[in-house]
Amino acid sequence: MSTLFDRQFIVIAGKGGVGRTTVAAALASAAARRGKRVLLAQTKSKERLSRLFGGPPVHSEIVRVRERLWAVNMVPEAALREYGVMVLHSHLVYRAVFENQLARSFIRAIPGIEDYSLLGKVWFHSTEMEHGRPKYDLIILDGPATGHAITLLSIPRAIIEAVPEGPLTRDARSAHQLLTDPQRTTMLLVTLAEEMPVNETIELAARARREVGIPIGPLLVNQLYPPRFVSGPSKRALDLLPETIDQSADPLAPLLHRSRIAQRRRALNERYLERLQRELPLPEVHLPYLFAPDFGAAATEELSQLLEAQLASLPEAAA
Ligand SMILES: Nc1ncnc2c1ncn2[C@@H]1O[C@H](COP(=O)(O)OP(=O)(O)OP(=O)(O)O)[C@@H](O)[C@H]1O
Ligand SMILES: [Mg+2]
Repeated sequence: MSTLFDRQFIVIAGKGGVGRTTVAAALASAAARRGKRVLLAQTKSKERLSRLFGGPPVHSEIVRVRERLWAVNMVPEAALREYGVMVLHSHLVYRAVFENQLARSFIRAIPGIEDYSLLGKVWFHSTEMEHGRPKYDLIILDGPATGHAITLLSIPRAIIEAVPEGPLTRDARSAHQLLTDPQRTTMLLVTLAEEMPVNETIELAARARREVGIPIGPLLVNQLYPPRFVSGPSKRALDLLPETIDQSADPLAPLLHRSRIAQRRRALNERYLERLQRELPLPEVHLPYLFAPDFGAAATEELSQLLEAQLASLPEAAA
């Protein structure tokens, strides 16, 4: 039975700040637990993975984070150099061709070259073999935010359409085939159940389908507030109380105030969950807001377990 964990390539996308990196780390950890060899590839991110995994810092060289789990924070210059060396089969030739002043400014001026070098690096790692089998079973791309992600993923198609047939188009075609193959690739959208992220997510899903043709998997709704005071006896009790009470008259007034906030936050979440189901009907995974003072390895692990359990219970077609 094929599940999300059997894919070769998962792209994590979504609005800036919704938790893409956190969720990508949780997913990578779950896949490694299930026995997959995983590479988590970030794009020019702030260094956060060392805290999320409780492991070594992650920079532009691939580093082993724990058993079966590697990570890299890709930067365009390094990725471009790797790609250049690969194509030219030599560091010396690369330096002669690419690293003189004129060539450098020329190359930087090619539109999309930075994004292409990042995507090309990811694609290259998906083809790498070791001991007669793929070096990584799964590559997770913690991609850039919304629109930039679409630009990045559209580059192979743009190259196929614009560049004359040759080595560049050959690689671009393979990359595009990988991106659009539902057996191998899935894009996961991370969102919050709040107005702006929901708007952006609906738009992002439409563009990903239209402009990239990438298969879209379950929607990951992150940072949901706990369902307090929204049903049952606690709601009935709160409904009996006045909207606010004067704090000088009653020392319990702050409790009422905070209960109302908790109730409204969850009610807001539920309103946007309904909107998502109406306008972006995808299977959903719900991840709670974890009130961890310092979001570190323990919180990542907790999120990872919740994510894995919910992904496992989705119908096969949805996964
Ligand atoms: N489920 C959660 N519970 C509590 N806090 C969370 C949760 N998910 C993410 N966060 C917090 O939200 C903040 C943003 O998370 P993260 O860096 O993963 O988002 P991002 O989408 O990768 O952001 P960027 O656009 O900067 O790359 C972080 O402080 C993180 O600890
Ligand atoms: Mg991030």
